[in-house]
Amino acid sequence: MTSLKTRFFGLELKNPLIIASSSLTADAGKIREFSENGAGAIVLKSVFEEEIINEYNQIAQTKTSAHFEEFLDYFDYKIREQVLASYGQLIRDAKSVSEAPIIASINCVSTGDWLQFASQVQDAGADAIELNLFVMPCDPLKTAEDQRRFYLAAVREVVDRVNIPVTVKISSYFSDLASVCNALAGEKLSGITMFNRFANPDIDIEKEKLVEAQPFSNDSEHLLPLRWVGILSPRLGCPIAASTGIYTGEQVIKMLLAGANAVQMASVFYKKGPAHLTVIIKDLEHWMQKKGYESIEDFRGRLSLTKAADPSMYSRAQYLSSFGGYAGSERK
Ligand SMILES: Cc1cc2nc3c(=O)[nH]c(=O)nc-3n(C[C@H](O)[C@H](O)[C@H](O)COP(=O)(O)O)c2cc1C
Repeated sequence: MTSLKTRFFGLELKNPLIIASSSLTADAGKIREFSENGAGAIVLKSVFEEEIINEYNQIAQTKTSAHFEEFLDYFDYKIREQVLASYGQLIRDAKSVSEAPIIASINCVSTGDWLQFASQVQDAGADAIELNLFVMPCDPLKTAEDQRRFYLAAVREVVDRVNIPVTVKISSYFSDLASVCNALAGEKLSGITMFNRFANPDIDIEKEKLVEAQPFSNDSEHLLPLRWVGILSPRLGCPIAASTGIYTGEQVIKMLLAGANAVQMASVFYKKGPAHLTVIIKDLEHWMQKKGYESIEDFRGRLSLTKAADPSMYSRAQYLSSFGGYAGSERK
């Protein structure tokens, strides 16, 4: 009997396939479909601190009252209340239609009272919290140390505040990625998801104007998380979920072999719909049966940095002259 059970979010999941936070998971109808198609867990669309700050700033620009400050305090409070109330409702709706655990996703770009929201998410019934942490490291006056301080402080504030498991989802935009992951793993986290993929700017050359790039990954992007899962999974002592560019059962198996406990996917479901989940689950099951594996733990991490026959593949980055026999052989 093949078991796909695994652990992530501090929970036993019936399989490692997690529906990543996106607009697909902001809708109870879609959440029900993912649950019916066998999702291991579902991460709700993030509630964004930035969105609240933006709304607040817009209101602030239009106000010229004598009681300006009181006005702003009132709106800050009001906006937060509304956002929090509707997110609480989403959690309750999702819980009522899904057998899979429901994970709330909180985005933050600063520490402080915004993170009180974590307790409200817990009270609304979320099974765990994923912190979607990211500040674009583009300020030339800020250092890697400043970045690290923010990430660790945000995690600590939330972990100390709630009793449900907390995980963090990070990007690969760190100069000291391995060291930051190691520090995060030391913070009583129930998992790290690597990596988030963000909206990108693009350029329309006819209009000579900046535009938003299309938001979906393509399936070769899984090689970046594959490398880092392979390198970090045996070293962190903290479960890892791989994310970005995972489209097929084959890619899920690769991530598990590299040492991931679970995977998170979004783009593939925008392109192929929730029913594609059953195809991926079947492909994973068939492969395990063919190989004689009864559980995920039978093969998880077999090709991680500490177990692979040629671990140097993980740290090799340059195309040296002898690399792979590609010297001019592609040209016909
Ligand atoms: C349209 C869209 C909306 C997303 N919204 C969120 C979000 O609210 N919070 C978050 O943490 N990630 C969000 N993501 C990122 C996904 O959760 C995921 O990490 C990323 O798309 C990489 O996985 P993929 O290659 O399977 O799409 C979004 C992705 C897409 C495509």
